[in-house]
Amino acid sequence: MHINPGKAIDELITVLSFIVDVEGNKEYYHAWRVAVIASKLAGSLSKSKQRDIFYASLLHDMGAVGLTRHIIHFLRQENKPNRTILLSHPIIGAQQVSIIPKMNGVAKLILDHHEWFNGSGYPRGKTNKNIALGSQIIRAADSIDIALRDSHYQTFKSIKEKIIQSADKEISKNLARDAINILENKRFFSAVLNHRDIPELFYSTKTKIGQISMSKGIDAIGRTLEVIAQIIDMKHPFTAGHSQRVARYAMAIALAMKLNHDEITWIKWAGLIHDIGKLIVPRKILDKPGRLTRKEFKHVQKHPQTTYKILEMVSSLKDLAPVASGHHEYYNGSGYPFGLKAKESVLGARILTVCDAFDAMTSNRPYRKPLTHLAACQEIKSLAGKQFDPEIVNFALPLFKNLGL
Ligand SMILES: [Fe+2]
Ligand SMILES: [Fe+2]
Ligand SMILES: [Fe+2]
Ligand SMILES: [Fe+2]
Repeated sequence: MHINPGKAIDELITVLSFIVDVEGNKEYYHAWRVAVIASKLAGSLSKSKQRDIFYASLLHDMGAVGLTRHIIHFLRQENKPNRTILLSHPIIGAQQVSIIPKMNGVAKLILDHHEWFNGSGYPRGKTNKNIALGSQIIRAADSIDIALRDSHYQTFKSIKEKIIQSADKEISKNLARDAINILENKRFFSAVLNHRDIPELFYSTKTKIGQISMSKGIDAIGRTLEVIAQIIDMKHPFTAGHSQRVARYAMAIALAMKLNHDEITWIKWAGLIHDIGKLIVPRKILDKPGRLTRKEFKHVQKHPQTTYKILEMVSSLKDLAPVASGHHEYYNGSGYPFGLKAKESVLGARILTVCDAFDAMTSNRPYRKPLTHLAACQEIKSLAGKQFDPEIVNFALPLFKNLGL
């Protein structure tokens, strides 16, 4: 497998940071905008510091994916059920990101991105010099981004006023001065403000920053996908661990089928990321305890197609798209998104279909109790040739039966 891990991880982080900022049909570009502003503020720092700040900006709010709505709605009015996630999101995000090789520095910046210069921030109430400059820069950029979403602060004069007020409190005087200086540039100010200009501004910033080079030999892509799997599963409390279990089951089947090492890796990766399209399904639909309306069901059914579109954007891992997005295709052609029949769906996808269904059957849902492993196996057997590829069912059943429950 000849994949440049640095490039693949960069592409994955780019697309992930875009997709978690999509809510319904709104694209917020929060992470991309914070990355653009923070990179401008970090302009005089070393290349490697700039790179850490850039990636930390893109990933800074990943720990908040479990909130009922996008985090930008919660910063002013906090409500109780979301408070714990809100206050812990820097810790959760930092823990997740630290799993990716060479991202320890990035994780540290994420941990402190809500600390305030005067000590009144969270999670640890650090002050001044105890907060890394990179975290202070992200704090400033994050605050500017949130303010610019408020119609009050969409002129240079009003945002300048706001930044001056935050000096020595939320951010240092020096940083406040630098922030005012970069926003004084009319072209930059209007480009940041105008959603249409964000992608261009973001990609030109990204080109200047460059990628983190990853050493060969470590499964850096696999670990990044594990982190993304955790983020996907955080979106919906009833699916905790789902993506990782599906990946594990799929790997076991691929091994039993004696596929080669690359094929097994590919199937595992696809399993980890198969539900990434769910990130844009609103939480209130995913969490709905009762039956979904037709419209809501249609919305949920779109997620494998979204998975396809997202993975197509990751050029280094493009081949994952047909595998990951095929996990709701049925052997008899009555599945979705493309209605692929039998072997029109690739082998990896047919494996994932069985694993996804098995995990759904054996997991708790708000509207029904989980099936025992044995009952799920019987159900899968009865659907061989209809929903599932019978050959794969033959490999899967002995494995599922031996899961020890
Ligand atoms: Fe945050
Ligand atoms: Fe943020
Ligand atoms: Fe799915
Ligand atoms: Fe799934």
